[in-house]
Parts: sequence; structure tokens; C-alpha cells
Amino acid sequence: MATEMFAEHAERGRRGQWRLEEMPWDEPIEFCGSTEREKTLNKLDLIDGAQAMYHFQLGARIRMGDYISRAWSSEEALAECLEWHDIDEQRHLRGLRRLTVTLEAAGNDVRVINNKTDPRRMWRVSQTGPLRLDDDRLLLNLLVDEVVSKTLYEAVGRRCHLPLARALFQSCAQDEERHVEYVLALHRSRGVSHRALETTRLQAGAVAHVARIQGAFRPYFRAFAGITHDTTEAVATEIFRSISKVLSTLGPGWEGYPLARLIHTADRSPWLLWILR
Ligand SMILES: [Fe+2]
Repeated sequence: MATEMFAEHAERGRRGQWRLEEMPWDEPIEFCGSTEREKTLNKLDLIDGAQAMYHFQLGARIRMGDYISRAWSSEEALAECLEWHDIDEQRHLRGLRRLTVTLEAAGNDVRVINNKTDPRRMWRVSQTGPLRLDDDRLLLNLLVDEVVSKTLYEAVGRRCHLPLARALFQSCAQDEERHVEYVLALHRSRGVSHRALETTRLQAGAVAHVARIQGAFRPYFRAFAGITHDTTEAVATEIFRSISKVLSTLGPGWEGYPLARLIHTADRSPWLLWILR
């Protein structure tokens, strides 16, 4: 049964492959705005957004690599799922870096004003203390990473005015959707205990991880709001809503326990996770 399920996910991974060259790299880059200042600000937002995703994905790859080496098995379908996952994430990194370079070369020169945010903040999301996380918690963190990536790729892919960024982010979002589904399948295949204590422990870990991501993304929310023509609160809320929706499918304990409710409440009060940091 599990083999069949992973064979299906592996097949979806194989069919879902796309190439960076398919993106409209040659289309002229027109930044949004009626004045030079607005266009420059839009360019800076786009660069910040692409870099935030790049560094977040880089940090998430540390968790993914750790989990792949733990979960790898000689079962061909599962190994193939893990390999496609790795290939997808590598393509995202290369695409985001190429997008950043393309954006930097277009429009006004912003090298003087573009003080790059320290990427270590994004990488530190993966630092979980001196203790090695157990497999269940690591997998849960991996799931949260995938949901966050999917949500932000989708938001930019849907609402950004720039065709190149839209095309790239939409393609990445499709990969992330597959990743969320197969990581959920991995979670189910592990037969995680639904005992109250164990569920609460995992929920506490999930809240901590979400709070760390929130902290890392906070300096970039304004850029994402600019790119998606939305508010910073709306961007943060969209992330929590997606996480909450996916986590609530994990089992009976994930809807009713206080810690799960905390994540659900964060849908409406992003500041709550800010306090939790
Ligand atoms: Fe992913």
C-alpha cells in the first residue's frame, strides 16, 4: 500500500519536472510604478523577495538533506520521491539566483542603496539547539517549510505584475504542492502516535518552528507586500492560515489541543507568534 502510494508520488515528481530555460528570461523587465522612485522601490522589493526565498530554501535544504539521509530506503518509489524533491529544490535555488541577477541588471542601479539583509537569519531557522531532533519533529518542520514556500510562491505567482517572476514562482509553487502532499504521505506512513502527550509535544515543536520562520521572514514581509500589492499583515496571515490548514489534517488531536489552537489563532493574530519568539 505504502509502495503504491509513493510510486504515485514519484510518478507525479517525474511528470512535474520543468526546465529553467522554459521561463521567459528574455522578456523586458518593467518595474511597477509611475515615477522612477516607485520603480526603484519595486525593484528592491522584488530582489528582496527573491533573496528571502533563496535563503529560506537554502536553510530548508539543510533539514531536507538531514531527513533524506534518515528516511532513505531501498524501496525504489520512496527513494525516487526523495530524489525528485532534492532535484526540485536545487532548480528553485538556481532559478531564484538567476532571477535576482536578472532583476539587478534591469532598471536603475541600486547597488548603493541595496544593503543586503544578512542571510544568516534565514539559515538560522534550521538551528534547533544542540539536541538532534527526532525523526517525527524533523519531518514536521520539513512539512512546515514546504507549506511556507508553497504559500509565498503562490502569492507572488498570482499577484506579481512581472511576467518572469510570476512564471517562475508559479512553477515553483506547483513543485511545492507536490512536496507538501508527499511529506504528508511520509508522515502518515510513519504511523505517528496520536497519544495526547506525543501530539502535544509535536505541536509545541511546530509552534516553535513557525515562530522561528516568522522571525526570519519579518524583515521581508514588507517586500512581499509590495510585490503582491497587499499588506504585511495579509502576507503573514496567509502563511499561518496555510500552515494551520495543513496541520489540522494530521490527526484527531490537531484540531482540539490548546497548542494547535494557538496556531489557528495566529491566523487572525500574526502578532501572537511575534510574542512567542
Ligand atoms: Fe519544497
